[in-house]
Amino acid sequence: MSDPMRPIRFILFSILLQRPFRGLLDCLWDEGMSMNDWGRHLAVAKNRLMRWGGMAVEPGAFLASGIQVTLPSQCNIWVNTGSFIGKNCFFGNQAPITLGRGCLVANDVRFLTASHRTEDLVYEAKPVTVGDGVWIGAGALILPGVCVGRGCIVGAGSVVTKDLPEFTVCVGNPCRPVRTRALPVRQNMVDGRPLTFEA
Ligand SMILES: CC(C)(COP(=O)(O)OP(=O)(O)OC[C@H]1O[C@@H](n2cnc3c(N)ncnc32)[C@H](O)[C@@H]1OP(=O)(O)O)[C@@H](O)C(=O)NCCC(=O)NCCS
Repeated sequence: MSDPMRPIRFILFSILLQRPFRGLLDCLWDEGMSMNDWGRHLAVAKNRLMRWGGMAVEPGAFLASGIQVTLPSQCNIWVNTGSFIGKNCFFGNQAPITLGRGCLVANDVRFLTASHRTEDLVYEAKPVTVGDGVWIGAGALILPGVCVGRGCIVGAGSVVTKDLPEFTVCVGNPCRPVRTRALPVRQNMVDGRPLTFEA
């Protein structure tokens, strides 16, 4: 059955995420990063609009400006509470992309979900899952079908081609673990709430 909200979502995303409106709105939204009262109100308003537009952003998450979403009306993206998405991140929306609680996604990270089989170039879409408390460094590329384990750190510019084990620091192209993070891990989410993983 066709989704009656689809045209509305499409229009909202066009206003929120496409030029020429976004330049103006982005200035306001980035103010939310300061996390003062005014900024918090802006972040809450933006998250509500994003939810209406088809990107499920939980309260307490923060999205910076310049985010690009393909096929926005498909509603495949979930950003959990306490997570931060930096400027100019790209979400290929052909299959679900799920970000856990308290994730920190730096600028210019790209999440891809669409690919083609190497044998015959048949199109296929695969989901991307990012666990709780993951930090993804600037400019990393996350390929379709990958799961990033909770508490993982992905180095800047890495190309993540396979699943990454939890509580590891992973770098490079292809991205591989170089060491593990000692448990317990204690870090803060973007809204200041603590996120702890016990041993
Ligand atoms: C992943 C990261 C956190 C690792 O930091 P670290 O624990 O201090 O690691 P080190 O600097 O000791 O590096 C360990 C090894 O990994 C390599 N390495 C580190 N980061 C790398 C990266 N992004 N890509 C490829 N290799 C990397 C180092 O060269 C080193 O290799 P060596 O042992 O052969 O000398 C850090 O390098 C990084 O990429 N930070 C992201 C910064 C960022 O994106 N900031 C944006 C604001 S959120």
